[in-house]
Amino acid sequence: MFLSISTVLFVIVGVATAAGPSSNQIKNLVTFGDSYTDAMQTGDGGTAWPTYAAGYGNFTLFPFAKAGASCSNNLTSTPFLSVAEGQVPLYLSEKNAGTIHVPPQETIYTLWIGTNDVGANAILTGHQAPGVTVVDTTACAVNWVKTLYQTGARNFLFQNMIPLQHTPMYSPNAYPNRYWTAARNTTEWSLTMTELVSSGNTLAKLMLQDLTPTLPGAHVGLFDSYALFTDMIAHPQNYLNGTAPLNVTDAINACIFQVDEPTSGPADCTTATGTDKDSFLWWDEVHPSEQADRVVAREITAAIKRTSSRWTTWLS
Ligand SMILES: *[C@@H]1O[C@H](CO)[C@@H](O)[C@H](O)[C@H]1NC(C)=O
Ligand SMILES: *[C@@H]1O[C@H](CO)[C@@H](O)[C@H](O)[C@H]1NC(C)=O
Ligand SMILES: *[C@@H]1O[C@H](CO)[C@@H](O)[C@H](O)[C@H]1NC(C)=O
Ligand SMILES: *[C@@H]1O[C@H](CO)[C@@H](O)[C@H](O)[C@H]1NC(C)=O
Ligand SMILES: *[C@@H]1O[C@H](CO)[C@@H](O)[C@H](O)[C@H]1NC(C)=O
Repeated sequence: MFLSISTVLFVIVGVATAAGPSSNQIKNLVTFGDSYTDAMQTGDGGTAWPTYAAGYGNFTLFPFAKAGASCSNNLTSTPFLSVAEGQVPLYLSEKNAGTIHVPPQETIYTLWIGTNDVGANAILTGHQAPGVTVVDTTACAVNWVKTLYQTGARNFLFQNMIPLQHTPMYSPNAYPNRYWTAARNTTEWSLTMTELVSSGNTLAKLMLQDLTPTLPGAHVGLFDSYALFTDMIAHPQNYLNGTAPLNVTDAINACIFQVDEPTSGPADCTTATGTDKDSFLWWDEVHPSEQADRVVAREITAAIKRTSSRWTTWLS
């Protein structure tokens, strides 16, 4: 039997460019990250996105993300279980003990990290380990793919950082809040945050593009949280559906403090309730709202099920 050159080339190219898992391949979702992803101590005042995604996609969820986490406590130390020293070792110990069952072909791993690495009490305010920059925290996040690959994982979705400069905490109009009451120049914070997030996200993309060809048999996707949240801010009517006027600047649960007041309060708080909540992009000064998280869950599910490629680039 003869195959034409063009058929042979087509087959070779077809194999080489088949990126991403197939539409019904994934059954298990294993999540890593910080309070944006923590399914127990949720950051959105309601149900976290992994729980919604597990429902939307009929995935079995194995949640390892922990509120307050950074990528590595060696780089930006927080008192919580970091991805590198806490969450990944915990996952590996459970996998090795056989208490979780995660066959590589039908399991996808997600990581959404960075807010606590670049933010206040870390790089933004000079509280990182000496010499550490966003280059190191980004390398740490990308290295999560390599570490899990070496232990057998094959499918990955890397969620980049949201435009943190637009959160009530880091916007030019920021007020003293439960996360930070000390005097600061909010214009400068917002400008610096813009630089950190944009640089970190661009580095992550380049580092992932560099890493991916060294991981045979892997599917690595880059989920563009930055673009999704930018679109939610520009076109809230496409995403937010509450009964109050749509609001992408302020939080459902906003508390204004006095400058230099202890973060324990007292504070001047405003809280949206009931169906008004789904009009807001932010839950509090640093966290996306539950409706924003439903959108994240819907879009992550669509990426995994391959029903949408709008926010996801499959690098392999
Ligand atoms: C959901 O997933 C489970 C386990 O993979 C499977 O047994 C079940 O049939 C699925 N349900 C639906 C409605 O697809
Ligand atoms: C963090 O530092 C400890 C102690 O030096 C080391 O064992 C560990 O591998 C480091 N973690 C990372 C992610 O480099
Ligand atoms: C805050 O920083 C901005 C940008 O550097 C500067 O233009 C502004 O004067 C500063 N404001 C105060 C009150 O120092
Ligand atoms: C957003 O919500 C805040 C706090 O509830 C409120 O002060 C502000 O006017 C709202 N903005 C819009 C555009 O409705
Ligand atoms: C907004 O849409 C979500 C689905 O994305 C739904 O669960 C929620 O109940 C809706 N909110 C309101 C106030 O209708």
